[in-house]
Amino acid sequence: MPAIDPIPKMPLLTQTLWRGTGRDKLHYPSVLDRPNLYHFNWAREGLEMALRALGLKPNDEVLLPAYHCLSMITPVLRAGGQPTFYPVQADTRIEVSELSRHITARTRVVIAPYFFGFDQPMSAIRELCDRSGVTLIEDCAHALYGTPGGQPVGSIGHYAVASPWKFLPVTRGGCLVVNDPVTHPAPKMPAGPTARAELKDGLNTLERSMDYGRLPLLNPFLRPILSLSEALSRRRHSTQGVEADSRPLDESIAWADPPPAPLSRVGRWLLQHSDRMAQCELRREYYLRLAEAWRDLPGATLLHRRLPDHVVPQVVPLTTRNPRDFAAALLSEGIPVIRFGGQLWPRTPPQTCTNAPMLSACVFQFPCHPSLTTAEVDSIARRVRAILLNTPSGTPSPRDYGRSAEMEQP
Ligand SMILES: Cc1ncc(COP(=O)(O)O)c(C=O)c1O
Repeated sequence: MPAIDPIPKMPLLTQTLWRGTGRDKLHYPSVLDRPNLYHFNWAREGLEMALRALGLKPNDEVLLPAYHCLSMITPVLRAGGQPTFYPVQADTRIEVSELSRHITARTRVVIAPYFFGFDQPMSAIRELCDRSGVTLIEDCAHALYGTPGGQPVGSIGHYAVASPWKFLPVTRGGCLVVNDPVTHPAPKMPAGPTARAELKDGLNTLERSMDYGRLPLLNPFLRPILSLSEALSRRRHSTQGVEADSRPLDESIAWADPPPAPLSRVGRWLLQHSDRMAQCELRREYYLRLAEAWRDLPGATLLHRRLPDHVVPQVVPLTTRNPRDFAAALLSEGIPVIRFGGQLWPRTPPQTCTNAPMLSACVFQFPCHPSLTTAEVDSIARRVRAILLNTPSGTPSPRDYGRSAEMEQP
């Protein structure tokens, strides 16, 4: 079994978080409540399916933020579009006037994310897109709940995509919402998963939780089944060859993932049966706990000091002035960290946005998901604080950009 961090980076299945089905839909609206919702394994698949449904032509441009992750670029390449970029502010806010300057006659689609779950002027972005005859994909990969755009999340774009797997205890789970089905076509759904894939998905979810000591009562019964399933899967994979990819390096990344596929029924069941109120309130509580502990750190600042009532954050983003040493210390301490945007697409024009390389190198995101225990949250708070107190707080030079990107990014 591979070594795992002692503190889980992503949500796990626990005995308590999936009880109160559907509570408080009004208080915390969700992308999962939207009509015309299509479940896939990942949000990138939802993006690809929306772009394919629009029938992009080779020179059609898809406008993305200069601060992005590769899973936002690959769907554009796979659907045959041309990624182009708009700048973001130093706090990741999208300036509508700046976005407007980057829309050209070839722009077909704008992708606008709620970075880390925080506010964006999404309604104004929608108005701009409507005026320009461009499709808006509201990217809710970091915002499954709340109203960070002033209206229920996932209701503003012509399409919306989300990553429930980043919020709920499922090993995979992405979705696409078609908000304007009269003008914007629905995806053509591929065939559903086989019974074997269904079973594997359920077992993977249980196994991940048990690896971190959750669900202790199930452990003695399920371990032998999981070992058998792992052995069978190893045998199957050892007989499959891997085909070399002859495309240029920066495009071949687009073809590394399998084709889009619908989410398993097990996954969909888990998404529908989580305790929403507990999920949202605990996330907010843990965010505030970490934010309080890191309010006056030397060499690092919170990207968002305030947590508005309508925001359910995905993570706690922290900006450090010494990313190289900070990254090395986090790795050696085994502190769970997420690096959205740690690696920008190599063809992103550097002149588009001076903030993007800085955000990419310097913003580290820490988990605040509700399957953490209070002791785990406090341990992250204390150990990050100790690292920063012992790290020289330098000014990052352009040489540092990208150096800290080697850490895993979900
Ligand atoms: C803003 C944003 N959009 C889209 C995606 C793709 O999401 P997924 O990993 O579910 O494919 C990600 C992935 O991290 C993301 O951060």
